[in-house]
Amino acid sequence: METTTLPATNAAPFEFEVELASSRQVIGVPAGQSILHALRAAGIEVDSSCESGTCGTCQTGYLSGTPDHQDFVLDVDEQERFLMPCVSRCKSPRMVLDL
Ligand code: FES
Repeated sequence: METTTLPATNAAPFEFEVELASSRQVIGVPAGQSILHALRAAGIEVDSSCESGTCGTCQTGYLSGTPDHQDFVLDVDEQERFLMPCVSRCKSPRMVLDL
């Protein structure tokens, strides 16, 4: 299982869950791990490139939950529907991703 530590600015000291809308699979995202890497550890591949919130490659839709975005790509309107799982965290206990 791959474990990747986020940069210190993103290393939120709490865990949360993401649910995949298509399968209802629930994946835990530990403190200090990105959503992207938690998805990969569960066998869910999402395209990525920079993994620092700057390129937009990993853009993923979400259906519920409260993201803590932390990316440098999305404008305010886009933040209502999308997040960048390489850097985004969640302010709510669970978020449903459009995957
Ligand atoms: S991989 Fe570049 S923004 Fe996520």
